[in-house]
Order: sequence, then structure tokens, then C-alpha cells
Amino acid sequence: MNTFLTRARSTLAKINEDKVYKVLQTIEGPMGPTVKLKGYGEVVCLCSNNYLGLANHPEVVEAGAKALKDYGAGTASVRFICGTFAPHHDLERDIASYMGTESAYTFVSAWTAAEALFPTLAEPGDIIISDELNHACIIDAIRLATVVKKGVHKAVYRNNVLEGEKSLRAALEAAKANPEVTGAIWVVTDGVFSMEGSIADLAAMRKMCDQYGAILVVDDSHGHGVMGKLGRGTHEYAGLLEPGARPIDMFTGTLGKALGGAAGGFIAGPKEAIELVIQRGRPTIFSNALPVTVACSARKAIEILRREPERVARLRDNVTYARKKIKDAGFNVLESPTAICPIIVHDTAKAIAMSKRLLELGVFVIGFGYPVVPEGHARLRCQISAAHTTEHIDRFVDALKKL
Ligand SMILES: Cc1ncc(COP(=O)(O)O)c(C=O)c1O
Repeated sequence: MNTFLTRARSTLAKINEDKVYKVLQTIEGPMGPTVKLKGYGEVVCLCSNNYLGLANHPEVVEAGAKALKDYGAGTASVRFICGTFAPHHDLERDIASYMGTESAYTFVSAWTAAEALFPTLAEPGDIIISDELNHACIIDAIRLATVVKKGVHKAVYRNNVLEGEKSLRAALEAAKANPEVTGAIWVVTDGVFSMEGSIADLAAMRKMCDQYGAILVVDDSHGHGVMGKLGRGTHEYAGLLEPGARPIDMFTGTLGKALGGAAGGFIAGPKEAIELVIQRGRPTIFSNALPVTVACSARKAIEILRREPERVARLRDNVTYARKKIKDAGFNVLESPTAICPIIVHDTAKAIAMSKRLLELGVFVIGFGYPVVPEGHARLRCQISAAHTTEHIDRFVDALKKL
């Protein structure tokens, strides 16, 4: 223990010395366009993934409270031993219908969903080809797959580069030429890249995967509720939900952002994939279900999204307004159709200092640096919500101008 404690203290001291120590703020009320932060009072919140403003929606709260009364806290067991509450089945049916897939299965997080998907479904002789900017859960799930099943191969292509050197096509060609790749070719991408706010070209990727007989998997955690006219995701935005279009094969996604905001994740795809995950997935066999309260809240959030697509339109209007105001104030904000507006400031310590100052000015927005983004690419990641008013956005931009 002493060896560990000495090492841990020295690592923590180094993080502090580098001025990249993360402070966990205390929130003293519900998540909304503004939040009450201990020591700061009410501040405009631009760092939540509460894209549709549903995290504290009265119906979402009530659905969770009712579930607690109806079912208690949980089954105190895993689903295959002690059974599944009806709301889990209902939610999974609704997720499949919302995503446009045959079937779906829920987990306590999208992280767990990714760790259930690749290590369970990939087999020796398969290759998993991944975008270099995919979320950490995809990266770790692929690493895990290659460790638990020797002979699962992996390859990485440059972010969103489909043709040429280090591209997706180059990785697919190499896979076809590799005599050790005798099984399935998996291609996986985020729909919306969480640090850039950029999107994958899913229509082009779909075509390319079909040319090589590859399975296309999309983690659309930041696309739910945001992308496409109805907020169904980046595949809707790409036209892949249109009649006659070839759909995405499988998705991982989260319930911890636009779709309720509590926690939870899912795999959505063909019923054979879901059945295999139920039969063989270690996170399904050895870990408890998503809490039933969260399942009911998430189901209500999806119902509200489908009932009120105007929330998605409001989010889009807010994003357009915010991007214009940020640019007019002289800041370099990355362009995209998503609700993530990264302001690039390059230096990690500077990004953290800026977010500290913004908090003093009444705006809660986080500076991200290495290792979350590559060295030299530090940024303030501003996330817009349908719940923001133009006044909230103006307050944020006024604070930016004071930096
Ligand atoms: C793209 C992406 N995938 C997955 C996750 C993980 O989601 P969860 O919190 O449900 O594990 C995140 C969360 O930051 C994400 O941004």
C-alpha cells in the first residue's frame, strides 16, 4: 500500500503542478439551462449534454418517481437470474423503434454497451476498423475484444478520412488482403465526434462498407435528440432512415445525454446480435440492469422527443444563434451541424484558466486539454440546449468578451 500511496501522491502533485487538476463542482439543484453551483450561485450551464432540456422535465421526473413506487429500487440481481421488469422490455422496444432497428438491449451506460458489443460479437479472424477520434469507450472495448479473444484484429483510420492514405478504404483494402482476416469486417465510428462536434459521413461509409461486405456500427451518443429533423440521430441526418435506404447495422448509444440525462446505454441492431449479447455478454451476465427508475424516465424522454419534434428545431435555432454570436465576438468556433461548439484555445492550462474565469463571471463551461484531446488542441467545449434562451446565450458571449 505504501508503494502505491507514494506513487499516487506524486502523480496527483504532478497533475496539480501542470495546472490540469479537475475540480468536481457541487450542483445544488436540478440540471437545466442554468444550475445552482456551490460557491457560485446560479450560473448559465453550457457543459451539459442536456440537449433537449429533458433532464428535469416534470414528466421525466414523475416517470422515475412512479417507477420507484411501483417497482422499488431494483431486482438486486442480474436479469438472467432474477428476471426483467416490464419497463425494461418496453424501453427496449421503444429504443429499437426510435433508432429504426429490429431489437435493442439496455445497460447501465453506453460505456458498458460498447464493452458488451465488441468482445461478445467479434470472433477470432474478425477485424475491427475504428476512426481515430472514436470515444474512449469504443477504443477500450476494441482493446478488450482483442485481449479476450486472441485473433481479433484491429485497425485505425484517420478521423473522417474515407479515401487515400490512412483512410477507411485503405484499412478495408488491407483487411481484404490480410490472410489472417477470415471472418467479419467491422467498421465503427462515432456519429457525432464528442470533442470536435463534427459528424461522420454515414451515407458514404454505408456505401463503402457495402462494397467490402463490412458491418457498420455507429456510437451516436451525441446524435440522439440532436441530429436529423426528428432528432433520431446522425443516420436520420444522412438520409439512412428514408424508405429504400440501406440502414446502419448496429448502434451503441446513451440515455445519459439528450434522452433523459440520468444514465444508461444501449445496443440497437438485429435480434441475433441482441440475443448473443444476452446469452454471452459478460456485462449482461455478470452485472445488474439499468435501474428501473431510469428506464422509465428515459422511456418518457423518448416519448416527449417523438411528441415534440419542435424541441429539436429549437435546439438547431439556438445553435445557429450561439455560433454566430461566438464568432462575432472574435472567437474561433469549429463549424458543424451539431450542438457542440468547441472554441479552440490550444493550450490546456489556458483552457482551464478560461473556464475558471468564466465561472466567476456566471458561466459554467469546461476547458478540455490533453489527454482528452491531443496536445496543443485544448478547447472550451460549449454545448447548447433547446432549453437555453437567447438571453442565456447572450450572457455567455458577454462573459467570453470579458476574458
Ligand atoms: C460518443 C460517446 N460515447 C459514449 C459515451 C459514454 O456514455 P455513458 O456515459 O452512457 O457511458 C460518451 C460520453 O461521454 C460519448 O460522448
